[in-house]
Amino acid sequence: MTLNRRIFIRVSGLVAGLIAIVTWLACAFAVSHHRASTKDIFSAQLTVVSDRAERLMLLDDRVALKELLRGMVDDHDEVEYAFVERGGQPYIHTFESGVPRDLLTVPSESAGAPATHELERATGGRFTDMALQVGDERAGLHLGLSREAIDRQVLPQVLSIVALGAGAVLVGLALAGAATRLITREVDQTTNALRAEITERERTQQELARYRDQLEDLVEQRTSALAESQAKMRQSERLASIGTFAAGVAHEINNPLTSILMSARHALRSIEDRLNVETSLQEVIDEADRCGHIVKGLLLFAKHQPSEKEALNLNDVLYRAAGLVRGYGGRRNVSIETATDDRIASVVANSTEMEQVFVNVIKNAIDASDEGQAINVQSEQDGRSILIHVRDRGRGMAPEEEKHAFDPFFTTRAGEGGSGLGLSIVHGTVTEHGGTVGISTESGAGTVITITLPRSPDPASERIA
Ligand SMILES: Nc1ncnc2c1ncn2[C@@H]1O[C@H](COP(=O)(O)OP(=O)(O)OP(=O)(O)O)[C@@H](O)[C@H]1O
Ligand SMILES: [Mg+2]
Repeated sequence: MTLNRRIFIRVSGLVAGLIAIVTWLACAFAVSHHRASTKDIFSAQLTVVSDRAERLMLLDDRVALKELLRGMVDDHDEVEYAFVERGGQPYIHTFESGVPRDLLTVPSESAGAPATHELERATGGRFTDMALQVGDERAGLHLGLSREAIDRQVLPQVLSIVALGAGAVLVGLALAGAATRLITREVDQTTNALRAEITERERTQQELARYRDQLEDLVEQRTSALAESQAKMRQSERLASIGTFAAGVAHEINNPLTSILMSARHALRSIEDRLNVETSLQEVIDEADRCGHIVKGLLLFAKHQPSEKEALNLNDVLYRAAGLVRGYGGRRNVSIETATDDRIASVVANSTEMEQVFVNVIKNAIDASDEGQAINVQSEQDGRSILIHVRDRGRGMAPEEEKHAFDPFFTTRAGEGGSGLGLSIVHGTVTEHGGTVGISTESGAGTVITITLPRSPDPASERIA
């Protein structure tokens, strides 16, 4: 059943029910009011008739009395009978076959208003017996009012009320129909609006899901494109660094090779002159040594195999490295001061490589220092990291130098035999040990090189490959 019909049935049922109740109450009121007013009318008439009956009884004019009573019955539909009893015996009556016994026993009222008794006929139906005493004698005047006749009189009124009620029901039904349409239209409108909203939401969600998918696809595409271009970049960087590396190698090796060539030729030309040959051969040896030094550095730099590592106390390595370069510093009148923290944890590292790292860094600090200055070498622990600081108060680095300090073959000391491989080896070695190298420098004020290495995860471990 549709919502419209359900609402209509309920509303119209309610309206019809209410109208039916009101109609029934109105009919009941009309009937009871008519009955009461009929009784009032006949009560007044009974008083008048009783006076006349009294006079006629005094005259014993039974004919006139009968006339009087018959007139009452004939003139009024609702009057069923009229009789006068005296001492419980019928005196005059309008019954065709005598006064029924039980009516003679109905008491009559003496003072004012007549006695009223609601009785039932033996043949069915109800009637009202109104009885009033006549004079001082033990006589009573009775009038029988038929309930059916009284009710018949009010029938037109009842019918009009019922008709009104029916009309009201029809109007009510029409109103219920209109109200139902109004309500359901509003409900329909709200439902439609809700449906439209739900559809819109679903559409938006689908759209969002579509956008999300597109976005995910896009991110995926961009990520793989990025990875691809990063790989390409790494490749070209590698090629570029190989190029730089090769150029550097060629440049570095070319100089001593040229010298070797020239010295060898010179020795060949002056083979007779022993001193010249000796000097030339010494130059060949020196230059070949230089080549060897460069090749050694290159091998270290290019080495990719992880070295053997063990748990080390970096303080020990620092002292050894400082000891190795102390003489180098002494020749330049630069001292090395160490301030190590004895409580630092061990690190897992290759001892020789770490020694090489510290030697390189301390040598750089000595090279940058002026005569009479001191280098500070310090160790400390910060959480899970061991930090080594090498501080000098020398010439520092210009920003451009700092930027290229780790580049292989970058050197500002080419004239003093610098190869520019020291810091790049330091960087490669420390990175391979899982650490970092930091530079804090100011041109003219000095430099601090900080090497950070992770502390050993298990201090008890002896050798780790
Ligand atoms: N402590 C420092 N103070 C100032 N400049 C420095 C310092 N350490 C390194 N540098 C700069 O970084 C450059 C590169 O250093 P690196 O150790 O790689 O090469 P090098 O010392 O020049 O040569 P090599 O170490 O091969 O003898 C140096 O030439 C220098 O200009
Ligand atoms: Mg160096």
